[in-house]
Amino acid sequence: MTLTYVIGMDIGTSALKSIVVNKQGDVVTSHSVSYDTQHPQSGYSEIDPDIWYNAALDSLKYILTQYEPTEITGLSFSGQMHGLVIIDANGAVIRPAILWNDTRTSTEVENIKNTVGLDTLLNQTQNTVLEGFTLPKLLWVKNNEPHNYSKISKFMLPKDYVVYKLTGNIFTEPSDAAGTIMFNVKTETWATSLLQQLNIDVNICPSIIESHGYSGSLTSEITHQLNITSNIKVYQGGADNACGALGSGITDNSKQLVSIGTSGVALSIENNSKFENDGNIHYFNHCVPNQKYIMGVTLSAGYSLEWLRQLLAPKDDFTTFLTNINDSVVGGHGLVYTPYLLGERTPHNDATVRGSFIGLDANTTSLDMKRAVLEGITFSIQDSITIMRNNRIAVNDIVSIGGGAKNKTWLQIQADIFNASITTRTEEQGPAFGAAMLAAMGAQWFESFETINQAWIQFHQPIKPITSNRRSYSQLFDIYQSVYQATQPITHALSQFK
Ligand code: XUL
Repeated sequence: MTLTYVIGMDIGTSALKSIVVNKQGDVVTSHSVSYDTQHPQSGYSEIDPDIWYNAALDSLKYILTQYEPTEITGLSFSGQMHGLVIIDANGAVIRPAILWNDTRTSTEVENIKNTVGLDTLLNQTQNTVLEGFTLPKLLWVKNNEPHNYSKISKFMLPKDYVVYKLTGNIFTEPSDAAGTIMFNVKTETWATSLLQQLNIDVNICPSIIESHGYSGSLTSEITHQLNITSNIKVYQGGADNACGALGSGITDNSKQLVSIGTSGVALSIENNSKFENDGNIHYFNHCVPNQKYIMGVTLSAGYSLEWLRQLLAPKDDFTTFLTNINDSVVGGHGLVYTPYLLGERTPHNDATVRGSFIGLDANTTSLDMKRAVLEGITFSIQDSITIMRNNRIAVNDIVSIGGGAKNKTWLQIQADIFNASITTRTEEQGPAFGAAMLAAMGAQWFESFETINQAWIQFHQPIKPITSNRRSYSQLFDIYQSVYQATQPITHALSQFK
């Protein structure tokens, strides 16, 4: 019997993770390639997009040492959102990709708001514009590097560039197009009149196909390089948060997603056509056809923990770093941390605010600081969950994925702060699993997204909130929320001393 597999690849901020999945939904192989991003100036975050492409090729090569190419039914992608890749008429990359966590575009964000206004933005794209999104990055290139801008033939999102290099075909799909703020989430078409107002040629936008749509097969140059005689089909893929949700079985709003990686995300499906975004939260297309979701983002979630680990114990891995975290207590003995190391998205949309520890005491220990960081990240996600609840979404069952799902204490903190049951997947592979599901759907292994969900996704027993902790966290959340107003002007005044 010929065995068949699909490959899901997730192009993350610091690594490309690939998994091979069989028809039963078991992950049979995984592989990861790490890379570094560049920060040539404060607030800048860039990478050469060919690093992603080479990482994808290295992973493919590794996978093909274990499987025959004829056994691979398809390959699809999940990608970090909002990154700007620009290519010229010859298909060559013009400058390094500008990434989602790059905040150089404050002037462009202000200009867009002044030129077109929030109402037009919401009307045309159903979102407001923020520093990290693609639109202001494109305008930054226009304003600061006109020689580069004039060469643009197409812009692309990170995973779309890798698909282009693998297949020679340039497409994107709704879940990543939505994060550009150049796309109408409701009509699923490019926001042409907004682009006209901003003097952006709509022809630089890629054509849209479905996330599980067929993008092409490997170019002959690549099959030659890989030394394979049969070809592999590539399906376009989706935005990492959409793929994270799909890979966690989130295709309706009976459960919400919390994903804590470098950034932190709370996500809920919102298919009500009457939903109107006021700009306080993101409203994007899912990688499941015709579905949409709302999402709040904490910019420095896992990144805050990584920052503290580098400061306190660079030699420890995360498991060691968080050992004995329970020896500190709820509230870290009166210590609150706000995770605004790079500014904050939801709910403040503020690129200039910076983080703080409030309540440092002569008796504060490193364990208290670690606990306060875990709690501060979780409070910042609770800000997004509060917006969902205010929009009449019942948030009672949350699927937690990413680094935040790897530590039992942190899962309990999530249950207590969110006041919801927290479940984790039995075989959690993050967005790469959603990418593999898109490949399986592209290859028509399943009739519908419901069927693949039922066949491939199982959960552990849920973790429930502990009543006494919940009460304390509810008080602490009020204190946490007051820190932003109190510290915003202070951290802003301090920025001149950077
Ligand atoms: C979402 C966002 C991040 C990136 C990181 O809006 O900016 O979650 O997708 O992977």
